[in-house]
Amino acid sequence: MKKQFYITTPIYYPSAKLHIGHAYATTLTDVWARYKRLRGFPTYFLTGTDEHGQKIENNAAKAGKSPKQFVDEIVVGILELWKTFKISNDDFIRTTEPRHETIVQAIFSTMIQNGDIYLGQYEGWYCTFCESFWTDTQVGTDHLCPDCKRGVHQDKEDAYFFKMSKYADKLLKFYDEHPQFITPESRKNEMINTFIKPGLEDLCVSRTSFSWGIPVKENPKHVVYVWLDALTNYISALGYGTKNNQLYRQFWVDEQTEIVHILGADINRFHAIYWPIFLMSLGIRLPDRLIVHGLLMMKDGKMSKSKGNVIDPLPLVEKYGLDAVRYYLVRETVFGQDGQFTPEQFVDRVNVDLANDYGNLLNRTLNMIQKYFAGVIPSFQSKVHPVDESLESLMQSTIKEYELLMDNLQITEAFMKVNALVARANKYIDETLPWVLAKDPSQVQTLASVMAHLAHVLLTATMLYSPILVDSYTKALEQLGLPKDHHRYRSIHDVTILSGCKITTPQPLFPRLDPTIEVPFIQQTILKKPA
Ligand code: ME8
Ligand code: MG
Repeated sequence: MKKQFYITTPIYYPSAKLHIGHAYATTLTDVWARYKRLRGFPTYFLTGTDEHGQKIENNAAKAGKSPKQFVDEIVVGILELWKTFKISNDDFIRTTEPRHETIVQAIFSTMIQNGDIYLGQYEGWYCTFCESFWTDTQVGTDHLCPDCKRGVHQDKEDAYFFKMSKYADKLLKFYDEHPQFITPESRKNEMINTFIKPGLEDLCVSRTSFSWGIPVKENPKHVVYVWLDALTNYISALGYGTKNNQLYRQFWVDEQTEIVHILGADINRFHAIYWPIFLMSLGIRLPDRLIVHGLLMMKDGKMSKSKGNVIDPLPLVEKYGLDAVRYYLVRETVFGQDGQFTPEQFVDRVNVDLANDYGNLLNRTLNMIQKYFAGVIPSFQSKVHPVDESLESLMQSTIKEYELLMDNLQITEAFMKVNALVARANKYIDETLPWVLAKDPSQVQTLASVMAHLAHVLLTATMLYSPILVDSYTKALEQLGLPKDHHRYRSIHDVTILSGCKITTPQPLFPRLDPTIEVPFIQQTILKKPA
């Protein structure tokens, strides 16, 4: 396994306020970055905004603002959103920053010099919404954009082209040699069958029809195609092509770094095909993994900024707390598949997993330790009660499986293992019947051991949940009485660490939500479309 990690989110378009779909992608990335840091690995986490292009130019004009003024205002809100979500990114890149723009221009020049970019003429079907040209076959007889299904029109312009076709075989070979490159695998097959096998056409990489972009240095009436501009953020943010490139050397060049891009299926094509080819053209190393997550849908299809059928995550956080929302996002959408936001499922997740299972285990255990041992956690002894063995071995295997799954970016699956451990511990209470043991003075050792087991399961589960439950996990550890300097991952391997700890007054971390009140509340206030 690699020793250091570079993980990125897509850089979002500040064309309108972000919604819960963006919060989902960013939270997943954040959870993984936090997990890697928890394990002690150097980790660099990048997010940002993709600020050029026709759509933004148009939206700004509609709002009566300059494009820069327009994006500046939206970016303020995005930064606030990530602050509210406690996103632990190390940097935030905006493609309008000089540190990015100069690198995009330099890359474009390099590609002109090495012959991969040439000046030609473009004729084809253009989708204004997606800022993409399409071929006859792609738009079909209905002349609809294959991505957004909107109508396209014939367009023609002087343009620079990138010789994609030159790299098609090299790309297929790379896929073959790196079977892990695109997850889930179906997303790789889709790329091969839909785009590469039918023949990669040269890609138009400049525009003259609008001006809100990075000018081509050699020919400033052209601006750089927004995807060549945007994808470059992953290396410009690290200082690629500058003297100040320590981050680039550590987190990109060094083969000890695992480079992971998280992205939605909607932009897989750009990351799976164009990005590797641009990097090949520059002669630099390719990323290790593209993790393609599913999209959050609404009843009327994909939730999207331009459709306006969106859920603003902020009122949810305000009402139900950050951890509930982060948990819902990570848990609800099975990785790689699309999910649907419904108020019922949101309330149900919080109730079942957080309130009934985890929260309740913590609360029950602390109350029993209070009652039977005056709030002091007894010392741990292995295999005292007959069911201890199975709980102990599940604890060990859960940690191992969680780590394997997390390392492999199966984030949702990893947390489901923790849920299973918590469920097992609740069952352990029903099997050991502590309130019965408490009535029999000869069973005091067994009772003590049962409490110590429960406490250690809680410490373990809390630590494993901590990349998601960023507000509650310290509270849980404090309730367990674990001293601050032991709030670290390796404590889970020391079953004696809680012995003698004095618990603090149990306080429910996740109060149960009443669905008859909360479901209509979410429907009326959060799902309500803005007037
Ligand atoms: O495509 N459900 O930006 P974008 C889940 N600027 N995730 C969603 C989502 C949904 N309904 N809607 C959006 C762009 N996302 C380019 C990216 S990268 C070099 C340039 C998430 O603002 C998902 O990760 O349209 C998707 O891929 C991304 O936001 C697209 O954001
Ligand atoms: Mg989009």
